[in-house]
Amino acid sequence: MRVAVASRSLAIGLFLVFMCLPLSASAANEVETADLLIKLIQAGRTVVTEHQELLNDPTKGDKGFTADYFAGKLIEKYKETAKIDLSRAAPSPQTGLLLTLLESGKEVVAEAQPVLNKQGVAFKGFIPAAWGRKAGEKFTKKTGVKLKLTATEYRFPGNKPDDFEAEALKLFSDPSYPKGKEFSRVLVQDGRQVLRMMKPEYLGHFCLGCHGEPKGERDKTGMKKEGMKEGDLAGAISLTIPIR
Ligand code: HEC
Repeated sequence: MRVAVASRSLAIGLFLVFMCLPLSASAANEVETADLLIKLIQAGRTVVTEHQELLNDPTKGDKGFTADYFAGKLIEKYKETAKIDLSRAAPSPQTGLLLTLLESGKEVVAEAQPVLNKQGVAFKGFIPAAWGRKAGEKFTKKTGVKLKLTATEYRFPGNKPDDFEAEALKLFSDPSYPKGKEFSRVLVQDGRQVLRMMKPEYLGHFCLGCHGEPKGERDKTGMKKEGMKEGDLAGAISLTIPIR
């Protein structure tokens, strides 16, 4: 009990520290970059979602869902959602990061080819969250910019929220929090300033097959459903960008 109270007040204390650090003007570039990276990972997950039927068709062998095909669709989607054409973006540090994320996402698709092109297998586990996690891991290794998916009731162990993420998820789940609004703060981590940004995600109809009801029943990935409903907070995309 005592421990619970102590850790709770620690969490609240940490939260107050976050709240007291306003976004400095110097982080304006990082805020824009974080927002664009989040839009790119979202667009990639949408492309993976839109191809689930094709990818899980047991009658087809070669699906044609190659890394280049995927990149073409992602660039198209990103033009719609972010108004940026990655096939002809002017070189800049920001463009460099976006292209590195695109490249990381392509690598995940390239590595999945043997699984994706297997005939006679329906569900192949190539789902938006797994694509996003793997793309994020590769991107983080290449750039030092941390990109992950997280949730209060997380499935993949590496998606466990840290203190900042847990507080932001708590905020997002408050009914008074503006739906879809990102939450960002400048923190000092390991002696350097970083921008942390979290973008909440909600469950659409497609997601319920795995994260919906009945709670505890196995979904087709073999994991337990969370019993959530359409529109519920699913989790968040989390970005940590070092400030120059
Ligand atoms: C086919 C089942 C399936 C569907 C459909 C699905 N998910 Fe998931 N979701 C999973 C699995 C499995 C994981 C763990 C993936 C991993 O990281 O390997 C996961 C992970 C997540 C995570 C990261 C946190 C965690 O639990 O590790 C979020 C956020 C998430 N899903 C949201 C969604 C949203 C939003 C949708 C709909 C757009 C969706 N999911 C659709 C199975 C599914």
